[in-house]
Amino acid sequence: MAVEVGVYGNYIGGRWVPARSGATTEVRNPATGEVLGVVPRSGPEDVADAVEAAARAYPAWRRTPAPRRAEILFRVAELLVRRKEELARLMTQEMGKVLTEARGDVQEAIDMTYYMAGEGRRLAGETVPCELPDKAGFSVRDPVGVVACITPWNFPLAIPAWKIMPALVAGNTVVFKPASDTPLLANELVRILEEAGLPPGVLNLVYGPGEEVGERLLSHPEVDLVSFTGSTAAGKRVAGVAGPLLKKVHLEMGGKNAIIVMEDADLELAVQGIMWSAFGTTGQRCTAASRIIVHRAVRDALTDRLVERIKGLRLGDGLDPATDMGPLINRAAQEKVHRYTEIGLSEGATLLTGGRIPTEERLSRGFFYEPTLFTDVRPQMRIAQEEIFGPTTAIIAVDSLEEAIQVNNGTPYGLSSSIYTRDVNRAFRAMRDITTGLVYVNAGTIGAEIQLPFGGTKDSSFGPKEQGPAALEFYSDYKTVYVKY
Ligand code: UN1
Repeated sequence: MAVEVGVYGNYIGGRWVPARSGATTEVRNPATGEVLGVVPRSGPEDVADAVEAAARAYPAWRRTPAPRRAEILFRVAELLVRRKEELARLMTQEMGKVLTEARGDVQEAIDMTYYMAGEGRRLAGETVPCELPDKAGFSVRDPVGVVACITPWNFPLAIPAWKIMPALVAGNTVVFKPASDTPLLANELVRILEEAGLPPGVLNLVYGPGEEVGERLLSHPEVDLVSFTGSTAAGKRVAGVAGPLLKKVHLEMGGKNAIIVMEDADLELAVQGIMWSAFGTTGQRCTAASRIIVHRAVRDALTDRLVERIKGLRLGDGLDPATDMGPLINRAAQEKVHRYTEIGLSEGATLLTGGRIPTEERLSRGFFYEPTLFTDVRPQMRIAQEEIFGPTTAIIAVDSLEEAIQVNNGTPYGLSSSIYTRDVNRAFRAMRDITTGLVYVNAGTIGAEIQLPFGGTKDSSFGPKEQGPAALEFYSDYKTVYVKY
């Protein structure tokens, strides 16, 4: 059955198809409420079709020389470059972040695609001397099989690229389940891979809710590896289903990231880093700074500057160049963020600014929330321990570097941290003693580059790191070969 204009399909075995049940879901712009398209709401039977297509395509793709696989990725990167502006605009419409950030998201996908395309000519194993005469020993990289990529809506192009590109270059075939809130970007990415010449079945796309589509994917006997980015609660569920089936599992989950500001810091630089890390993407990054740990000597000076800057942020449609901060992704997110404002107040924290759903008429059709700053926050308060995933950040005062690091490390999460100081000794102590997977010095908690490993500790991540050379360790296995001659 052909797919109509504005109605998008699953992509299974090289064909664009509706869900077998015919069920669909509408996609809406979170800033304006405008309907952007209609996508399939798939069920277990569509997942089964997609996994079968990936399993059928696997033997030929696995035997395609890695440099040939990589050539397709080079073409993908070039198409992404050519279509960057159009993709960024669609992203802003689909998930709300401002256009400059959406361009950054597309750029991350471009960088990852070029990087992994380059890896097609490496994918190195090892050759070592053997103990016996007339014997050779070496290792080669083998793909894992059928890979399930389950991705979130906050980086609708970059995060799928972090997973799909290393999976493909290593010779796996893929079933891609994007977040229900951002299906259109996923559609564009898959169309680009198709246009670049990816053979049918090597990448398959299935839309639908995590509980139905995601769960079926995880438990399907022919799925060998699962890579998931999303909330810690959903990640635990993923591991709970895929773990006992002995599938390889990688999880990127929540964060409760902090920026430490010492009394010797360049305060203006720190303010810039905080504004960007706390309110960029409307605080909807796993790396967002939702705690500001500040030395008591500069707390008031920092707080005054922050309040002034926050009050100057303009909310609106991310396509408008005058907008500093877009909406939250949906109604549930708006309600959750507001619930945390109430929790903060009930815990005795002081609300300095924000804390409301804006009442302006021009913002009434979107899921906006005022950028929110709390102070007098104690490290154990829920607003300082739990991931809010919105434009809310909390000032915690401390008296020493040791205390700052202890507070920084004292949450169940371990993704990203930052310290502002001019003292090289303090910077190195922080790099050594901070227990998160990412550490920034004199820069905010966001902005990781794709050529280095990305990921955290504790409840933030599970399994190997994403990005950089580490990614290929996950998407390929070593096979060790001995030859006696
Ligand atoms: C995420 O929020 O899920 O370092 C990823 C950063 C980005 C990626 C964020 N490169 O903030």
